[in-house]
Amino acid sequence: MNILVTGGAGYIGSHVTLSLLDKGYNVIVLDNFSNSSPKVMNRIKKISEKTLKVIQGDILDSALLATTFKEHSIDAVFHFAGLKSVAESTNQPGRYYQTNVTGTLNLCQAMITARVFNLVFSSSATVYGEKHHMPLRECYETGTATNPYGRSKYIAETILKDLAAATPQLKIAVLRYFNPIGAHPSGLIGENPSGIPNNLLPYIGKVATGQLPELCVHGSDYPTIDGTGVRDYIHVMDLAYGHVKALEALSDRSGVSIWNLGTGKGYSVLEMIEAFEKSSGCTIPFKFGSRRDGDIPASWADISKIQSELQWEPRFSLDQMMSDTWRWLTNNPWGYEQ
Ligand code: NAD
Ligand code: WQD
Repeated sequence: MNILVTGGAGYIGSHVTLSLLDKGYNVIVLDNFSNSSPKVMNRIKKISEKTLKVIQGDILDSALLATTFKEHSIDAVFHFAGLKSVAESTNQPGRYYQTNVTGTLNLCQAMITARVFNLVFSSSATVYGEKHHMPLRECYETGTATNPYGRSKYIAETILKDLAAATPQLKIAVLRYFNPIGAHPSGLIGENPSGIPNNLLPYIGKVATGQLPELCVHGSDYPTIDGTGVRDYIHVMDLAYGHVKALEALSDRSGVSIWNLGTGKGYSVLEMIEAFEKSSGCTIPFKFGSRRDGDIPASWADISKIQSELQWEPRFSLDQMMSDTWRWLTNNPWGYEQ
């Protein structure tokens, strides 16, 4: 089975590519490397001892997509290519809608023209917005995201539902990720943020490796266990395994199936600092700052739907998330550029 992975050089796409190769699928990666390094491909080949085809290109390039589908007998598409910074999306909303909405639509139109009907789509827990009780269930209302990034994912989900209603052959898995962290246990691939990270664990990593002086904990007066924000962190390899399970399930389904991908358990910022310190042996200097605009106090998933429908379970503990992150960071403090 041949699988096209858009954004396959990125953080999540690279780990899913490995899981797909491991399962015996043939993978074709399409990535413009705007937020990743081509060097990740050699790491993937090294770990998997398999080959894969890499196309440098853009999902906004409809002609390239048409050629890609014509030249390869593709059975399914995993769509990771996109922009993901909440802060950047507020300053550059047009760019975010162009890539995340128009790019997704371009891809789907090329798929339908080429009669490729299986799609696994990267969505986000951010589509739930802030109005709900925890844990978040797939049936909860969406569309109240607080920023253009979240709205771009909500619009993309809406487009996928409309396309599936009009094209009954389409089988689409929409996976709503909570907070992916960690790295492949080999220490050869992991998250490689450019610039100053916005997300918690990449920021902690830069402090641990001495590239940033201290962490600012955004808010200490939330109604949570210790006043700091609570999130549902999931190991990227558990996330990857969820994608493989979703693909396998699509053959028996039609239309759009939505699954949360989290662990169902929330940890506060202070608990995350403590867990990282325990696994790494580093001390993370931090100070308390004010709440970050748009942040919600807590977010964690109800995972009963994916557990019962896909027989998927998270397998990695918080300690493993931290020790795998630390192995990746100590082996590659400057990411792939060393
Ligand atoms: P990433 O930035 O590491 O990977 C995205 C990849 O897409 C990169 O390799 C980038 O070069 C590529 N890309 C970007 N624009 C492209 C374009 N126009 N054409 C071709 N390639 C392009 O991000 P990630 O963390 O791996 O996220 C993957 C997907 O999952 C994204 O759609 C993101 O919105 C979604 N997601 C991520 C998280 C998270 O916390 N990492 C959470 C929820 C959802
Ligand atoms: C986690 C907690 C912060 C940084 C974002 C997107 C979401 C998804 C994942 C793509 C919060 C606190 C953070 C720091 C801190 N991305 N924090 N100091 O906000 O849950 O989700 O990334 O889809 O869409 O919104 O993740 O890692 O940024 O924050 O105190 O320097 O850590 O306030 O409580 P978040 P995060």
